[in-house]
Amino acid sequence: MDLDATGKTSFDDIYTQPDPRGYFGVLSALDYRIPELAKPYFLKLIQEFQEQRGAEATVLDIGCSYGINAALLRCDSTMDEMAERYRAVSGLNTDTISSIDRRFVEQRGGLDGVRFVGFDASEPALAYARAAGFVDDTLHADLESADPTDAQRAALAGVDIVVSTGCVGYVTEKTIGRVAEVGRPWMAHFVLRMFSFAPIAERLSALGYRTERVDGVFKQRRFASAEEQDQVIESLAAAGVDPSGLESDGWLYAQLFVSRPRDTH
Ligand SMILES: C[S@@+](CC[C@H](N)C(=O)[O-])C[C@H]1O[C@@H](n2cnc3c(N)ncnc32)[C@H](O)[C@@H]1O
Repeated sequence: MDLDATGKTSFDDIYTQPDPRGYFGVLSALDYRIPELAKPYFLKLIQEFQEQRGAEATVLDIGCSYGINAALLRCDSTMDEMAERYRAVSGLNTDTISSIDRRFVEQRGGLDGVRFVGFDASEPALAYARAAGFVDDTLHADLESADPTDAQRAALAGVDIVVSTGCVGYVTEKTIGRVAEVGRPWMAHFVLRMFSFAPIAERLSALGYRTERVDGVFKQRRFASAEEQDQVIESLAAAGVDPSGLESDGWLYAQLFVSRPRDTH
């Protein structure tokens, strides 16, 4: 498998398919688990927000792909359960699978008072997230390359909380700064240790945010090859990050950064 410019294996084609079968097929074989490990932290942030504001919360998932974080949160599901559900429908067409997902959301759907907006550069993935009912709305944009349009700005103005898993690296301080400028939402980003969060924290600080790193590290997935592991360990070494006992043992690890406007408590 090819490595991308950052040294990670490129899985780009699994993010632009009409449904998530390819995503779960490839990533469950690598024990991809960060959305599941992120779930309790995202829930806690949503609850804290709702306790403070006593209002419905609109949650924007940057790089949401097929609406994975929203599906896990809304249906209280796991990565293994989702992978198994898609394995069971491997012979069906996308419309049938999305209607099965829609029923799953209706049966399991919880999280009252939370509205999910999925943001991604992949329109096929967003179309699925909408059709399945994992998200209430979507934002198709690439804010790495341009400022938001007026319509995108209007959508961002209603966002209370921003979350992401596996997306920093694809997006940088450009996207996150452009999102933060509009509505000053709370944020929680799970970021691979090979990517520095410092440029994003600096950009957010200039916009009046304080960022805290939550203690601990989180398993993202197994390396796809020895070549990928070597490349990532080389990138970590160049950044002065010690891989001993973590990436050197075969897994990519993420850290959690929570950023809030300085005037929130
Ligand atoms: C590694 S996937 C993570 C998907 C999901 N959050 C998860 O954890 O499974 C990265 C996602 O970022 C999206 N992406 C890449 N570049 C982007 C950009 N400039 N703006 C928004 N999304 C982008 C991709 O389409 C893909 O869905």
